[in-house]
Amino acid sequence: MKPVTVYIETYGCQMNKLDSEYVAAVLAGSGYTLVSGYAGADVILLNTCGVRDNAEQRIHGRVGELSSLRRGKPELLFGIIGCMAQRLGEKLLSDVVRIVAGPDSYRKLPDMIEQALSGQVFDTILDREETYEGIEPVRCSGTSAWVAVMRGCDNFCSYCVVPYTRGRERSIPVKRIIGETARLRDSGFREITLLGQNVNSYRDGDVDFAGLLDRVADTGIGWIRFLTSHPKDLTEDILGVMARRSNICNHLHLPVQSGSDRILTAMNRKYTISEYKGLINRAREMVGGINISTDLIFGFPGETEDDFRATIGLMETVRFDFAFMYRYSEREGTKASLLPDKVPEEIRIERLKEAIALQNSIMRGRNREHIGSVFVVLVKGTSKDNHGWYGFTETNIPVVFYARDETVNIGSFVNVRIDETTGATLMGTCV
Ligand code: SAM
Ligand code: SF4
Ligand code: F3S
Repeated sequence: MKPVTVYIETYGCQMNKLDSEYVAAVLAGSGYTLVSGYAGADVILLNTCGVRDNAEQRIHGRVGELSSLRRGKPELLFGIIGCMAQRLGEKLLSDVVRIVAGPDSYRKLPDMIEQALSGQVFDTILDREETYEGIEPVRCSGTSAWVAVMRGCDNFCSYCVVPYTRGRERSIPVKRIIGETARLRDSGFREITLLGQNVNSYRDGDVDFAGLLDRVADTGIGWIRFLTSHPKDLTEDILGVMARRSNICNHLHLPVQSGSDRILTAMNRKYTISEYKGLINRAREMVGGINISTDLIFGFPGETEDDFRATIGLMETVRFDFAFMYRYSEREGTKASLLPDKVPEEIRIERLKEAIALQNSIMRGRNREHIGSVFVVLVKGTSKDNHGWYGFTETNIPVVFYARDETVNIGSFVNVRIDETTGATLMGTCV
């Protein structure tokens, strides 16, 4: 019997989450019904991440768990799609997993599902042109949407699999991005996040990322965010547009990865710490109230105690508002995997722990400074206890708040006075 229902479970970054919305659109266009849980599904697709080893181990575990569903339903089809599928390809096929598709193969999924009825099928061909033009993602929220501005990555940071799993960088034409944003605005979306692995290197003819931001701001959509910026390509023009346009959020995610120039060179990041600090100072001078977040890796090959102390020193000087912190994970096929002087796993863990403790105390301190201030908050849902609401400030800080009247709705912008903080989250009252 032909399968009719599909369940997609998504792992990894926002780019992958948006890709699941493209996959949903492709499958819906071929007559499939998307379901929100695996129980009623004829096809289960895991959209996977391969950036760190633990991400992949989780998927192996999940396949094991879900495969028991086949006992009651032997015709159930499993597929692994996304970055881990691209990285491991055919090797993932098994009695259970009959479909493997990389990030540029999603248009073929309806055919692949048909073929999997009588065997195994995989497609991990990277396509320099594919940007899923003509496919309108099936959005999983009615308030906030991701909008791709580019796909792929050409930066080849020495530790990273993304250039191999997502192929070469390609920018999406301005016209398509503006059209998509205008449609989202017209259907009631309040916030968009422009996505790319390095949005700062966006280019369409003579329009660079600063030019794109200006044009997207012209659509009048509520809030505009963008991810991810690369310090080597962040220009004053971009900061200038952020400062000038009120609907571009004053939040900048600027991954630094390490506080040591020696390690940055080994990572192939192409900036120095002094240049990075210069950018942070410029951003804080130019964009009032800007929040800055970052990514950090601990225990990269050759990272000495002094290199680690340099990262701790940078964190203390910059006082990031938020940081995603990871211990280095060796990825086969990357340049870093060939480097000598591996840092023992227990030291990676120790360094990560120390950095997390420091960042938590910095964040708590920063968030305490907000007590008594009033922020505009975009409401995303009800709070866990169901008595209140949660949302985010323009600077991307999570806020839980209580409101006396009924004027609060998901998708509304409200003013919230901050009364206290749990450390990472602000707590307040609607005013
Ligand atoms: N393109 C974005 C960037 O440059 O920041 C996002 C890249 S990656 C999907 C997100 C973060 O994962 C990186 O910024 C880096 O800190 C981390 N990461 C990537 N490869 C890693 C590895 N092999 N081990 C540990 N962390 C890694
Ligand atoms: Fe990976 Fe570097 Fe590309 Fe980010 S910029 S996706 S860290 S190679
Ligand atoms: Fe994202 Fe993971 Fe791929 S972080 S780009 S889903 S390897």
